[in-house]
Amino acid sequence: MSDTDRLTIRRPDDWHVHFRDGAMLDAVVPFTARQFGRAIVMPNLVPPVTTVAAAAEYRERIMAAVPDGVDFTPLMTAYLTDDTDPDELARGHADGVFTAVKLYPAGATTNSASGVTDLKHARPALARMQEIGMPLLVHGEVTDANVDVFDREAVFIDKVMTGLLADFPALKVVFEHVTTKDAVDFVAAHDGPIAATITAHHLVINRTDIFRGGIRPHLYCLPIAKREVHRQALRAAAASGGPKFFLGTDTAPHAVAAKETACGCAGIFSAPTALEAYVQVFDEMEALANFEAFASLNGPAFYGLPANEAQVTLERAPSEVPATVESADGETVQPFQAGETLPWRLA
Ligand code: DOR
Ligand code: ZN
Repeated sequence: MSDTDRLTIRRPDDWHVHFRDGAMLDAVVPFTARQFGRAIVMPNLVPPVTTVAAAAEYRERIMAAVPDGVDFTPLMTAYLTDDTDPDELARGHADGVFTAVKLYPAGATTNSASGVTDLKHARPALARMQEIGMPLLVHGEVTDANVDVFDREAVFIDKVMTGLLADFPALKVVFEHVTTKDAVDFVAAHDGPIAATITAHHLVINRTDIFRGGIRPHLYCLPIAKREVHRQALRAAAASGGPKFFLGTDTAPHAVAAKETACGCAGIFSAPTALEAYVQVFDEMEALANFEAFASLNGPAFYGLPANEAQVTLERAPSEVPATVESADGETVQPFQAGETLPWRLA
C-alpha cells in the first residue's frame, strides 16, 4: 500500500450528535463509539435536557449503551430556554456535567419548541457563560416562516449572529452544521472565538440531490442542503485544515416511518460510516494531510480539551454502509448512503 492508501491519525471526536433515548439510543450509540473518542451530545430530547441532574442521568444511559471495551466519553450539553438559570449552567459546568450549551431558536428544527424565542431572554445565561468560558453551540437559522428555507442560515448571520458576537465578544461560539458559503466566510473572517462544525452529508450532497429522480426524504435535514456553490465552499473550508472548522456529524436518527411520510422529520443518520464518508471527501480534495486537524485536533483545541492519545488507521479498502439499522423495540432507521460501498474503511 502506498502512503496515500493508509492514514493514521489521533482518534477523532464528533462535536455534534443526536443519540435520542431508550431503544434508539441503545441502537445508535455503538456506531459513534466505534469511531470517535468523544461526542458532544445534543439535548433536544422530549422533554429537553435543561438540568444538571437530567444530563447526568442521560450520560449514564449513554454509557450503558457503549459496548464493553470501547473507550468513549459523551460530552453533555444543556438546552437553552427563555428561563435558563445561569447558576444551573455554571454548576453543571463546574461539576464536569455540562460541556456546552445549545441554542435552538424556538421552532427552528426537531424538538426545538422549548428553545429561545428572543435572545434578550438568554442574556443573563450568555453573560455567565462568557465569564466562565462555557461554549455556546448555535443552530443558526431564523424561524420566520416568511424567510425562504434556503436563506434561513444567511439571514441568521445578519439578524442574530452578528449582534450576538458584538454583545458577547469573549463568548466561545460554535456555528453548528454550517451549510452556506456565507457562514464559512463569516466564521473565517471573524476575529473572536468562533468556530464551525461541518457535517459529512453537507460535504457530499447539494440541494439537487434531495430531488434526484424523485423526492428523497432520507436526505432531508435542517439546515437543508444548499446549492453546489455552497457545498464547494464547505469542502474547501474543511479541507483547508484551518483551526476554525471541525468535524460534527449531526447524525440524527429518525425511524423510517417518520421519514417516509406526508410530513417527514428532518435529520440524517450518518453515524454508521461517518468517518469513512469524511475521509473520502478529504481524499477527493487531495487534502488527506489535513484530515487529522479537522477530525481530531481543531475541535479539542477550540473546546480547550486535550486531543485523544489513541490513534486510528483509515485505509483505502471498501466498506459497506448498512442498508438499515434496527432498534430493539422494532424501529428501523436508514443510514446516510445506505447500501452503498465506500472506498475507505476504519481499520
Ligand atoms: O436535521 C436535523 N435534525 N436538524 C436538527 O437541527 C435537529 C435534528 C434532529 O434532532 O433530528
Ligand atoms: Zn443537530
